[in-house]
Amino acid sequence: MKETVAIAHPNFALVKYWGKKDSKQNRPAMSSISVTVNSMISKTKIFKNSQSNHHQLFINGVEESDLSNILPPLMYLSEFSKSEDYLVIQSQNNFPTSSGLASSASGIASLVTAYEAHYDLQLEVNQKIEACILGSGSAPRSLIGGFVLMDYKNNYSCRQILEETEWPLDVLICIVSKEPKKISSREGMLISKKTSPIYQNWLDVNDRHINIALNAIKEKNFARLKNVTEKNCKLMHEVMKTSKPSISYLTEVTHSCLSEIENLRSLGHKLFYTIDAGPQVKIICEPQSSETIKNRIIDATDVIEIIHAGIGGSPKVLNEN
Ligand code: PMV
Repeated sequence: MKETVAIAHPNFALVKYWGKKDSKQNRPAMSSISVTVNSMISKTKIFKNSQSNHHQLFINGVEESDLSNILPPLMYLSEFSKSEDYLVIQSQNNFPTSSGLASSASGIASLVTAYEAHYDLQLEVNQKIEACILGSGSAPRSLIGGFVLMDYKNNYSCRQILEETEWPLDVLICIVSKEPKKISSREGMLISKKTSPIYQNWLDVNDRHINIALNAIKEKNFARLKNVTEKNCKLMHEVMKTSKPSISYLTEVTHSCLSEIENLRSLGHKLFYTIDAGPQVKIICEPQSSETIKNRIIDATDVIEIIHAGIGGSPKVLNEN
């Protein structure tokens, strides 16, 4: 039986999207800029389901009953494959799932990549982006390595700003909690769009933050990228906080991590942070500071573990047989 396996890496947004333009098509309401990381991997195997007449999804060996993220991409892709197959989809993450670690982005990007290879589709880039968006608004960014811009004004085109080798920074992912998040990003975004009094301000600032980050990355200007990334992250969490009901993904350990980042800066280390829809803190730093940062955070906080990554590449098909 033919099985196809593909891998994709998560990406973390430096300029974030939080809010949909169109919930049905799952389209973000703004542009975003992300960095793809290398040592975190979603590996997805697909093959025809000969046992049952529905798709089955297993994440880390456990069957998922909620297929709402994968059915729209599969439906879209079946228009190209003309296949009526039901599939078994086995996805493995080498990192905690669904706790603000972008597992949906890498999971969906690896599924779309595996599907394209399985049915030998030769899709256009914009078709792959469309398939990914239907599953997760941040997933198209995982189709590309390095630093990536997803431009909502240009039909969500994704373009690489710098290749993964062009600016060799490290990304340290501080795992604060392994619990799945209580409010999904989708649900949280809907609440914020409807209720946050600063949602319009958040939309208005997007262009400016995108331009600053774009130039900072092109110029490899660490200080400017730090400023805009942290500003953008704080504003997104303020949008969440001012929503009704108020949304907060941060914990005490998240805050203690942020204090240590300040301490490390005052010692002269170059680092900045970003936090998504979960408590985990992602630190972007110069590689020569990584060991000191990791030791300090583990010693001074209750962070459970730190995943050490560099900048990652695009998805890969591992085998087709
Ligand atoms: O696309 P989703 O549903 O995984 O939401 C991503 C939301 C954030 O991670 C908070 C921001 C972003 O741009 O990745």
